[in-house]
Amino acid sequence: MRAIVVSATGGPEVLTCSDCPEPELNPGDVLIDVTASGVNFIDVYHRIGRYPLSLPFVPGNEGAGTVAAVGEDVEGVSVGDKVAWANVMGSYAEKAVVPVSHLLLLPEGVEPEVAAAVTLQGLTAHYLTHSVHEVRPGDDVLVHAAAGGMGLLLVQIAKLRGARVIGTVSTEEKEELARQAGADEVLRYRGFADAVRDLTGSGVHVVYDGVGATTFDESLASLRPRGMMALYGQASGPVPPVDPQVLAKEGSLFLTRPTLGAYIATRDELAWRASDIFGWVASGDLRVHISRRYPMTEAARAHEDLEARRTTGKVLLIP
Ligand SMILES: NC(=O)c1ccc[n+]([C@@H]2O[C@H](COP(=O)([O-])OP(=O)(O)OC[C@H]3O[C@@H](n4cnc5c(N)ncnc54)[C@H](OP(=O)(O)O)[C@@H]3O)[C@@H](O)[C@H]2O)c1
Repeated sequence: MRAIVVSATGGPEVLTCSDCPEPELNPGDVLIDVTASGVNFIDVYHRIGRYPLSLPFVPGNEGAGTVAAVGEDVEGVSVGDKVAWANVMGSYAEKAVVPVSHLLLLPEGVEPEVAAAVTLQGLTAHYLTHSVHEVRPGDDVLVHAAAGGMGLLLVQIAKLRGARVIGTVSTEEKEELARQAGADEVLRYRGFADAVRDLTGSGVHVVYDGVGATTFDESLASLRPRGMMALYGQASGPVPPVDPQVLAKEGSLFLTRPTLGAYIATRDELAWRASDIFGWVASGDLRVHISRRYPMTEAARAHEDLEARRTTGKVLLIP
């Protein structure tokens, strides 16, 4: 089979397409013919070595497709089933092996390509809005990079929960997309903390910040007393060490740096979040914006575009 293989960390050029042996099927594993693989910012962090992995590796943490074979001890999944997964490496490939414990059966009305676009970011947006901070009707919520893959989902889900949503974006085109997703107010980054205070008076209840280095300080300054700073990513670079005293100074704030793995740690939690996300997709309550589909062989171009802020919504690789 063909797969993207990273043999040395570095720029997008290290994403090379190679012929590889099919992955081994151990007990509890399922072999999948990949329909589409989701591209996520974490794939960039793996590629450049910011989150170190042993080399060589096949990147990609999200995909969807059709079950091609099942290993011993697999129950509840059969050859031909349409499935998706997140948080298991190796999706930039024609075939992937996923433990059945991480596999999600797709319900009627959710096609594999859409599932490859919404599983990882949908689960993440779910835990951020339901568990890290339970968004309530009337909450003021700030979402950075509101037209990105995570951003468009966070805006829609926060609106479903009755919040007033303020988004930040870098361009007019992105502003339009964020508004279409339901954002009530859309700002540019420069001076956003002052603008948020003008809009809300005392600040927002929660900031969803996946941008990191360039937004962190102003994100804290955008919060109301006892507000929640959910620093869930670092698209602009890592945040330098923080003096906890700043949380006191800005108003007894909470700061968390959550990861998806900790919020889908049990099968029940994974199933709850996935059933909400796929349910909203099937009912039309959650729209999935796939902006770009690249042949898998052009994974390097997909990463270049994501890193250069040229993409909106979801980016897919098609094997
Ligand atoms: N912790 C978790 O569980 C978890 C799970 C999934 C994703 N994440 C994080 O969520 C964030 C968003 O991921 P995504 O895959 O949905 O990406 P994305 O938002 O589609 O793309 C990143 C966006 O960040 C904004 N940005 C601002 N400054 C940037 C810079 N210097 N370089 C690049 N982008 C910049 C850009 O939007 P503008 O041009 O509008 O600024 C860009 O389009 C990432 O930090 C990712 O690691 C975390």
